[in-house]
Amino acid sequence: MMNILSVDQAVELLLQNQIVAAPTETVYGLFGCANSRAAVDNVYRIKNRPADNPLICHFYSLDQILEYVKAPPLYICKLIELVGPGPLTYVLNLKANSPIFLACAGFKTICCRIPDNQLALKLLKKINIPLFGPSANTSTKVSGVTAEMIDRDLGDKIAGIIDGGKATIGLESTIIDTTEFGKIKILRPGAIGKIELETYLAQISFSSIEVLENEKVKNTIPGSKYRHYSPKTMIYLEEKVGSQISFFTKKVARRDEVFTKKIKTTIGFQEFQQNNENYISFGSYQDLVKVSADFYLNLYKLDLQNIETCFFDLESYNRIQNSELSVAKALFNRLEKVLAHN
Ligand code: TXA
Ligand code: MG
Repeated sequence: MMNILSVDQAVELLLQNQIVAAPTETVYGLFGCANSRAAVDNVYRIKNRPADNPLICHFYSLDQILEYVKAPPLYICKLIELVGPGPLTYVLNLKANSPIFLACAGFKTICCRIPDNQLALKLLKKINIPLFGPSANTSTKVSGVTAEMIDRDLGDKIAGIIDGGKATIGLESTIIDTTEFGKIKILRPGAIGKIELETYLAQISFSSIEVLENEKVKNTIPGSKYRHYSPKTMIYLEEKVGSQISFFTKKVARRDEVFTKKIKTTIGFQEFQQNNENYISFGSYQDLVKVSADFYLNLYKLDLQNIETCFFDLESYNRIQNSELSVAKALFNRLEKVLAHN
């Protein structure tokens, strides 16, 4: 049975160094007190997270963030104020002796975010301690976007779940490195991309700040070296050789493995289903916001149906790759992590 918590119950458990799952607008997080050694140890154990991968921390306001980090440049403070609660995470310099250094895995910087979710904000305000909140999933699984998904993955390991319904955005926040003056580097793509950031900067009269996308940024997030998300279902990118359907893999050894499995199912956009009965639609390419919102949930449903192996439709893949929308870039980044050829 799922242990559903009220915000007050969650506060009590968090103060006892326990780990609680709670919604944000992006994905659910596994929250704990960022100033507690015991809580930090707990979340690494529960997620099976590599010890060198730092935790992202959540706050309810710019003022609260400023208690824990070295003063960022004016344009970053203005940006945080303008965006307010939202799917944007700032890498900032940690203050010396900051009590939440425990969450940073030895890094001198810290990922800070104000989530745009009423339950998360209520929790953060009531407890008035920054809460770390890595995505709610066992390391290498996809992030949880509903209470049920998290209960299946982690229910017996955590103190409980605040159920806020399905996470609305469905993909993790954009992470920007702000530690080099005059530049903003997108380390992890999300719903807010280069175009949106440039618009925000123009609104606060700081158009001179350069926004770099992740292809141009050498250092990405520590977590990205642990690349692969593995839903139980192995998803291979489809490849068409003449009229023959094959699949693409960088790992030649996998070819034989897959060919012996007689793959039936293909997943992709509804527009490319044609007459294929064994096609599972991930939504319409006209609405990539919705496709992104449902993406992890759809992967979870494949797992529930015990589909061992399937194809990802090539035309659908190309559509996502060629779209200039920020949300498409975020979706493509996650799709690449999911595809079994990588
Ligand atoms: O939307 C989100 O960001 C969700 C919700 C729950 O807030 N959280 C989330 O956490 O996606 P997580 O731990 O799954 O991803 C955060 C990433 C990690 O891959 C980690 O490597 C990176 O942030 N990170 C943490 N601290 C960092 C730092 N100081 N510099 C660069 N990257 C950092
Ligand atoms: Mg994660």
